[in-house]
Amino acid sequence: MKTAGSFSFAAAGRAVKAGRRRGCGLPGLKPRPHAVEIATLTEVPIRTRERAAPAMTIPAGTLGTAPALGHWLPEGAPPDPAPEAIRAAVGDLRAPVVLVRHRAGVAVVHGGIVALGPKRVKDAEEVVAYLPPLPAESLGDPNFRAEHGVRFAYMTGAMANGIASVEVVEAAARAGALGSFGAAGQSLERIAAAVDRLNAHLNGAPFCVNLIHSPNEPTHEMATAELLLKRGVGLVEASAYLDLTPAIVRYRVAGFKGGAAGLVVPLNRVIAKVSRVEVATKFLSPPPERIVKELVAAGHVTPQQAALASKFPIADDVTVEADSGGHTDNRPAITLLPTILALRDRLQSQFQYATPPRVGLAGGIATPASAAGAFAMGAAYVVTGSVNQACVESGSSDAVRKMLAEAGQADVTMAPAADMFEMGVKVQVLKRGTMFAMRAQKLYDLYKAYPSWDAVPATERAQVEKTQLRATFDEVWTGTREFWAKREPAQLERAEADPRHKMALVFRWYLGLSSRWANAGEPGRQLDYQVWCGPAMGAFNEWAKGSPLERPENRTVANVAQNLMYGAAVVLRRAALRQQGVELPNECFPLAPLTADELSARLG
Ligand SMILES: Cc1cc2nc3c(=O)[nH]c(=O)nc-3n(C[C@H](O)[C@H](O)[C@H](O)COP(=O)(O)O)c2cc1C
Repeated sequence: MKTAGSFSFAAAGRAVKAGRRRGCGLPGLKPRPHAVEIATLTEVPIRTRERAAPAMTIPAGTLGTAPALGHWLPEGAPPDPAPEAIRAAVGDLRAPVVLVRHRAGVAVVHGGIVALGPKRVKDAEEVVAYLPPLPAESLGDPNFRAEHGVRFAYMTGAMANGIASVEVVEAAARAGALGSFGAAGQSLERIAAAVDRLNAHLNGAPFCVNLIHSPNEPTHEMATAELLLKRGVGLVEASAYLDLTPAIVRYRVAGFKGGAAGLVVPLNRVIAKVSRVEVATKFLSPPPERIVKELVAAGHVTPQQAALASKFPIADDVTVEADSGGHTDNRPAITLLPTILALRDRLQSQFQYATPPRVGLAGGIATPASAAGAFAMGAAYVVTGSVNQACVESGSSDAVRKMLAEAGQADVTMAPAADMFEMGVKVQVLKRGTMFAMRAQKLYDLYKAYPSWDAVPATERAQVEKTQLRATFDEVWTGTREFWAKREPAQLERAEADPRHKMALVFRWYLGLSSRWANAGEPGRQLDYQVWCGPAMGAFNEWAKGSPLERPENRTVANVAQNLMYGAAVVLRRAALRQQGVELPNECFPLAPLTADELSARLG
């Protein structure tokens, strides 16, 4: 029989190591093996809030005065107040945790019977907190995990020039996460080779490829979309868009297929990364009719597909990118995420999509607390970047990994972006150990101030040729011309007609190479290394200090991902205890990074 406002259940029975058995037993109290027996116990009134004992202080922790959640009847093992016993219980994410009032503090109990509710049970211990199981794979939106076929709502974001290498993507997939290949800045041949390898190695496990907006090279953007369509890549991470382009709309709409019973299936999935409301609005809305019509006229999508376009948003998922490495508007996650979540809700009620688009969070996620914060605020999934560049699988160099492992949170700054140099767009880069940001800014200032290279004062020209270019302007132009002749000849026509554009292309040579020097660990060019990096890196380093993850050679994509997800669940459990009035010291929680073996034992 249940009493009003209460229910009972058997706490998961588990053996407790003898060495952990401490604290008070309950002599004379017989174990109650079945929950139903609760009904036979004498019920006594529970203390009300007013009559509750004053807040108790336990070593470095406090226990609030909230009324008891319920009562616990032992079955074998006595309550264990040892911090290591509490830590083990909280860290066992698949099992519930029951904490009872114990002398001046709390103790964890195993087995026995717990009756939740206001009625007091004679001779039973007072339950002060209850945690349901919280497996790391339950964090985030179940639809995200189901639709993308991943175990964890965790994604490693694309990193240009193959820094998010095929090895990063494969490691993410093996760890149960979603990896996005860093196709930006790569030739079509390299992207094709990466896709072929991922298809061959991953055996159908999900992966994602970056489709990046390239305002300076629209034909390359379209050719990339075409390549991904031809290779049957079913998921892209669309990024750096300020507006929708025919390339991204084509990719999305070409994937609409009518299924049985009028069901429409979007075969080409899009995860769009945005940091502005206007851009998010575009991705959360159906594609613009104008672009769809043009695509039909060009034969890129069928009229049937065009007719289905209004039923879907462009993106299945929108990643809100707060202050991150690389392209960023430096927005705080804590303000941006709720705004885009609310926007999604408004647009969902306007368009009534069959499946509401989801909203994830990127930027600054590098510790269990930041991942937990994202999930607590309603993120469907989390995306990391900077921390993965520091991992052994990244397409960067050991020299850069070492620099990243030494970075603090303030060791980052904004610098001109190579791909949108002329537009004044900036990217967040590492400033410790490199002078790239200053040197690139100098080039941008000259570009803005002078209409041509010849107009730049001679002393400035000499300085740039000596420091950044380490060659004459004309020598660099010769190489630059060859590059663009193959990649996008229209750029050369523009440069011949506009000497400022020519200057931009030469300066972009430096900006482009500075990334490659970093990725290759080019000796002698360390001060020019362009390393995209956000404050996440410093936060991660701080957390990893003193653990095996402090050393760059121990950082792997899987270990970082699983540590963050596992740790996020621990942080959320701690928060749940606090909300129940139980504040425990750090030693009661597994907060430090775990080894791969420890993680596989705990995550299963
Ligand atoms: C080295 C580096 C390169 C990046 N390149 C790209 C890119 O080409 N395309 C993209 O969508 N995002 C890129 N990003 C952003 C990441 O995918 C991710 O969204 C971001 O790094 C998350 O923020 P965090 O750095 O604070 O973890 C890059 C980030 C870094 C650190």
